[in-house]
Amino acid sequence: MTDTSEQSTFDLQPKDFGEDFIWGVSTAAYQIEGAHQKHGKGKSIWDEFVTKKGTIFQDQHGQIACDFYNKYRDDILLMKSMNIDHFRFSLSWSRILPDGTGKVNQNGVAFYNDVINFCLKCGITPWVTLYHWDLPQKLEELGGWTNRQILDWFEDYVKICANNFGDRVKHWMVLNEPMVFTGAGYFLGVHAPGKKGLKNFIPAIHHAVLCQALGGKLLRKMVPDSTIGTTFSCSQITARSGSKKDLKAADKADALLNRLFIEPSLGLGYPDESIPVLRKIKKYERPEDAQNSIFEFDFIGIQNYTREVVRHSYTVPYLRAKIVKAPERNVQTTLMDWEVYPPSIYEMLKKFNGYKGVKKILITENGAAFEDLLEEGKIDDLERTSYLQNYLKQVYKASSEGVKVSGYFVWTFTDNFEWAEGYYPRFGLVHIDFETLKRTIKASGKWYRSFLGKKVSSKNIEAKKTDVPIG
Ligand code: FCB
Repeated sequence: MTDTSEQSTFDLQPKDFGEDFIWGVSTAAYQIEGAHQKHGKGKSIWDEFVTKKGTIFQDQHGQIACDFYNKYRDDILLMKSMNIDHFRFSLSWSRILPDGTGKVNQNGVAFYNDVINFCLKCGITPWVTLYHWDLPQKLEELGGWTNRQILDWFEDYVKICANNFGDRVKHWMVLNEPMVFTGAGYFLGVHAPGKKGLKNFIPAIHHAVLCQALGGKLLRKMVPDSTIGTTFSCSQITARSGSKKDLKAADKADALLNRLFIEPSLGLGYPDESIPVLRKIKKYERPEDAQNSIFEFDFIGIQNYTREVVRHSYTVPYLRAKIVKAPERNVQTTLMDWEVYPPSIYEMLKKFNGYKGVKKILITENGAAFEDLLEEGKIDDLERTSYLQNYLKQVYKASSEGVKVSGYFVWTFTDNFEWAEGYYPRFGLVHIDFETLKRTIKASGKWYRSFLGKKVSSKNIEAKKTDVPIG
């Protein structure tokens, strides 16, 4: 379903969002790098999880993925050719510390140094996420996020990253979507490490909250001239009806999906008035923890794709709330079965902007997977272009109403390994043929390129002239 009428009405330009607005693309190590055992890399929980039969669509894996490990120069050059000058990527903890802690793998450090240096050489600013879900397997064997020792392990890792890359990386994000890696990985068991139940989820939440703040504090101390953020998944929550029960269910879903990780960092504690079972966290809490959960981030990254409609349900323990899936609601969806609902990003910007203590917001992920057809060397992904344009219109609306939004990163640059869904949901601006690894810019990528091409102010034009492309 392509809404071409909407497409023709997109007349925004980058400058409408402000001169200093950041435009970029986002990626994550396990989804793109491949080279899963190369040059001393240790196993991560995703390397392990993908080997279990039936966990991933068609038992696919990220062992090669986009082969970014070998092709990063070409990809960064391609990015540059598309006028993209901010690149968000994550570091693989087990590439740097194969056992999670202890001995550093200098080859891993060298790889990220190469990527960072090449970005800078091309005039692309690196935005680095410390943790995008790929915990070293050795640490998982000791309990992973459920073990409080993760605070020490994480501290080691952050220090090594800050020490090695902090001289050049000036934009950091501590965690990627803690709600998703704790919820899917330690409660539902559908993501690595495949653990289930409250006994895993509750300590994992608390330790992630502590690491979120700890990472921020360490970075601030070690790289004082950098901007430090962390990212949150979020979705507008709509109650299915105005009934008291559905409204209550919606409030619980909102607490779980949108409030759980940001509020402790702002000193507001856990939203346990909405979800009483969160009081179980107390068992893992030390007196100093509430204070140690707080950190004044320079920015927060919000990642929005869809909205959720929620209803009351007796059968769901603790929450008594259930998502009414988009396909049951007969609405436009993406290949992930997520509803296409642009106003959600506006509502989320308003919501997070409303917190006292949030200084700045960047959209660190937004994008969509659609059925892309490669025909005669071309991918005419009009649905993706119109998705991006319609979400951007909502970002613009929020911005013009005074919301402090200062950046937007498309998820994602190239098609990649979409976790439990494997390779079929293609989110890229650039198509990858996973047999040959050939890259082809999609129509949406060409649109983003020409949109960003309008960014150049006179100052940038001068800089561009002197920018020699690097081969
Ligand atoms: C987000 C993840 C990202 C990607 C997109 C589609 O939840 O952060 O890695 O999988 O969803």
